[in-house]
Amino acid sequence: MTTLLIDNIGELVTNDGGGDLLGLRTKAAVLVDRDRIAWVGPSVHAPAGDRRIDVDGAAVLPGFVDSHAHLVFAGDRAAEFAARMAGEPYTGGGIRTTVGATRSASDDQLRLATGRLVDEARRQGTTTIEIKSGYGLTVEDEARSLRIAREFTEETTLLGAHVVPAEHADNPWRYVSMVCGPMLAAARPYAKWMDVFCERGAFDEDQARTILTAGRDAGLGLRVHGNQLGPGPGVQLAVELGAASVDHCTHLSDADVDALASNVTVATLLPGAEFSTRSPYPDARRLLDAGITVALATDCNPGSSYTSSMPFCIALAVREMRMTPAEAVRAATAGGAEALRRDDVGVVRAGARADLIVLDAPTHLHLAYRPGVPLIRHVMHDGVLR
Ligand code: NIG
Ligand code: FE
Repeated sequence: MTTLLIDNIGELVTNDGGGDLLGLRTKAAVLVDRDRIAWVGPSVHAPAGDRRIDVDGAAVLPGFVDSHAHLVFAGDRAAEFAARMAGEPYTGGGIRTTVGATRSASDDQLRLATGRLVDEARRQGTTTIEIKSGYGLTVEDEARSLRIAREFTEETTLLGAHVVPAEHADNPWRYVSMVCGPMLAAARPYAKWMDVFCERGAFDEDQARTILTAGRDAGLGLRVHGNQLGPGPGVQLAVELGAASVDHCTHLSDADVDALASNVTVATLLPGAEFSTRSPYPDARRLLDAGITVALATDCNPGSSYTSSMPFCIALAVREMRMTPAEAVRAATAGGAEALRRDDVGVVRAGARADLIVLDAPTHLHLAYRPGVPLIRHVMHDGVLR
């Protein structure tokens, strides 16, 4: 038994051609052969599969691609969240609290905690997830974070340059040298990407350029946390170095938008962070109207955005960032895939990975229209339906 026909799909989001943004098809069917999509077309022309499931008019989408998550950590920062909701600002200073807890945790504790979050994300429709290190901040702790992340995904990112840890506060450049030297070497076998938090209070432009260049020279792809808490050099630096994505993009100048319009670097928006830090949302319309590729991701982490839910981010993007439901769904699927430079996910076409979600709803509109409601009826990952 190798093939499965998913039949009687009311609305299929393909992200593959057609006249509309989502490549919508109605009365459709998808044939899955092991871990790949084998055929997509109208139900009436569907080939027989070894097995068939009838989804009874439900909407089917590519699985969500969450291109930005920090899942390897111990503890939580619920009290910090409560203090923020009582008026404290978010500064990123709490990162060091999580670093302390993460360093003290055993491998098994971290593995269990990461696995729980991956499962939580999966139940909400995420089939591809990027996982960053960044709460170890020693050579050994960053390498083990990535080793654990690699057990769950191939999209792993060294974020040794998250903040300067307390023991290097007297000499940040000494820490930058460590990130570019022994840390990068130890993490290299487990990492696909290099990221840096380029922000006041974290790493400045020169430090970020040094770190990203070292990552690129070691063969890693590049990603940047930029322009989250205020204007800054992150976006321009990301584009200059050909990064796959620059993430947050909350405070952008006209020159930043012009740089992004070259469409080398995807603008990844993380509305869970603005929600959880009670900050103004990024101006998604300005980016979309300039023709810039936008991705949506959760930024799941214990400080600024403790959600693993892509449907929640879609709802926020629509309600708070004036994205249309179609733009938000596209950004959460094909947009995330572009941010990871993947063409085998975020799309429903023959040859793509068999990563699909079946909604408890007739159209993709319901993801934003029914916020907070568990609409994910089934998730297929690598051809396995759950
Ligand atoms: O993407 N901006 C830096 N890093 C995370 C926050 C990490 C934390 O507060 O623990 C982010 O928002
Ligand atoms: Fe982040």
